[in-house]
Amino acid sequence: MHNVKIITKDLYWVGANDRRIALFESVYPVPNGISYNSYLLLDDKTVLFDTIDKSVNHQFFENIEYVLNGKNLDYLVINHMEPDHCAEIESITKKYPQVKIVCNTKTQTMINQFFNFELPENQWQIVKEGDTLKTGNHNLTFVFAPMVHWPEVMVTYDTTDKILFSADAFGSFGAIDGNIFADEVDFDHRYMDEARRYYTNIVGKYGMQVQTLLKKAANIEIKMICPLHGYVWRKDLEVFIDKYNKWSNYEPEIKSVLIAYSSVYGNTQNAAEILAGKLAQLGIKDIKMYDVSVTHPSYIVADIFKYSHIVFASTTYNMGIFVNMENLLHDVTAHNLQNRKIAIIENGSWACCCGNQMTEIISKWKNTEIIGNNVQLKSSVKSNTRNELEILAQEITKTM
Ligand code: FEO
Repeated sequence: MHNVKIITKDLYWVGANDRRIALFESVYPVPNGISYNSYLLLDDKTVLFDTIDKSVNHQFFENIEYVLNGKNLDYLVINHMEPDHCAEIESITKKYPQVKIVCNTKTQTMINQFFNFELPENQWQIVKEGDTLKTGNHNLTFVFAPMVHWPEVMVTYDTTDKILFSADAFGSFGAIDGNIFADEVDFDHRYMDEARRYYTNIVGKYGMQVQTLLKKAANIEIKMICPLHGYVWRKDLEVFIDKYNKWSNYEPEIKSVLIAYSSVYGNTQNAAEILAGKLAQLGIKDIKMYDVSVTHPSYIVADIFKYSHIVFASTTYNMGIFVNMENLLHDVTAHNLQNRKIAIIENGSWACCCGNQMTEIISKWKNTEIIGNNVQLKSSVKSNTRNELEILAQEITKTM
């Protein structure tokens, strides 16, 4: 049975939720599921904006059949060709054989890479930056947003209702729990962390390209944002846009310290806990600690984007960095983190060498400074290392 949500008098959400998926993109845990958003506009011409992931295709087709109510589908706009949104392009062309696909040349190439169907030339409407499509009352403008999150990505702006169909931008992990608008839920408490984890892990690497899109968006009046995942925004858009501005500028949201540690027998953890305690005594609030072997790196990456100061504390392992810490550091590097202050704690019982290797990785991060000297433990915290941790806490605090 259909589960359509009304967005405006002639725009409908025809997407679906998946709460059984364990790993989004085979990488990211989604304990609250994920929504795949697709939108259907009923104008003189009917327009579907993107499709969905194949895991939820049954619900999707029930939704569009209900909204179309016997009408033909005239256009399928492809804003993003990743299969979590476009798995059902071929099925749409089979079910609605007159449909015209509206996309750019890069998207068309990718469609031909992913699929094997043929469409007559007059059923491809290939658009360029700034092209428009009049569907009756509505006027759609296509704006390219390459690398947010794939090279073919574009967003569509409905100049009639001032709605931005934003592709992956402004999305979030988490299924839609009944409500469809962000202002109908306690977004800040229930979803902002997941929106940050979604942004940083999916698009975080491409801050410059997101900035380009934000600058284009700043020149148009936007009353509503319809992303491909998560809730639709129609109020307080500036709150979310401000977050995107910070995240894409690699600007911390809070001045505080995140400590990520690996510990095999508890001694490196002990050093991390002592440092955290000393920072707290010096007045630092909201300190956050993660054991990198316990928490999935996507959560730690997201919080590293949030915090101004990061401490990495690692054991030496196979003459290198402890494996989960090394993975985290490479993950942070891949996501292009910048503008942070870092401190390092290293541990080793006979050949402590992970500190230099961590420094080498971190030194590639733009505009990032390593504070003080690495604190080195030989197996466990002794009185001299406790003193060094005290000094490190003071040095970190001075840079706040
Ligand atoms: Fe939700 Fe880049 O796909």
